[in-house]
Amino acid sequence: MRTAIYPGTFDPVTYGHLDILTRAKELFDEVTIAIAEDSEKKTLFTLEERKELLLEATKDMPNVKVCVFEGLTVEFARQCGALAILRGLRALSDFEYEFQLALMNKKLAPDIETIFLMTQSQFSFISSSAIKWAASLHAGVSDFIPPHVEEALMTKYVHLRIPSNSKD
Ligand code: COA
Repeated sequence: MRTAIYPGTFDPVTYGHLDILTRAKELFDEVTIAIAEDSEKKTLFTLEERKELLLEATKDMPNVKVCVFEGLTVEFARQCGALAILRGLRALSDFEYEFQLALMNKKLAPDIETIFLMTQSQFSFISSSAIKWAASLHAGVSDFIPPHVEEALMTKYVHLRIPSNSKD
């Protein structure tokens, strides 16, 4: 079984993430989405909410699993028996951070590779933060996120009246 993990914060999942997953699931027998429990980011969605949004978004991808992990990504990759850590690259600006992370992970676990897929150009400028910011100001974000994620964002920003400065 050739397994990869796809770690991240996913606050929330976007079409950018789903594009990476759609392509990766053809390359691996199984891809496990690994939602970081102790991400340094202050999230809008709880861990459980992010997991639910991802489960719905990937319900038609039988070889994609959704898990939550804490601690080191490489340790979780080992627990899953994964060969690789999958990451999406959007722009040159992502490279330095990703390069550093990949080298650190390689040092910690020489047997696990980091594999990068280039994000498709139509998603290269989006991020979860940018989408949350736009949604908080009531801009249409349906080009970037699935309908159920847009609904969840609307619930936060319109019904619960969470202010836009909680976007981080
Ligand atoms: N298209 C569009 N946007 C994308 C994207 C794509 N293909 N891929 C990533 N992004 C966006 C995300 O939405 C996110 O946006 P945001 O910053 O506005 O939230 C941003 O790019 C990158 O986030 P993400 O991919 O979720 O990664 P992260 O930097 O939040 O998470 C971990 C990084 C969890 C992998 C990292 O912190 C980690 O490994 N933590 C565990 C501890 C560890 O092992 N540390 C390393 C060794 S010390």
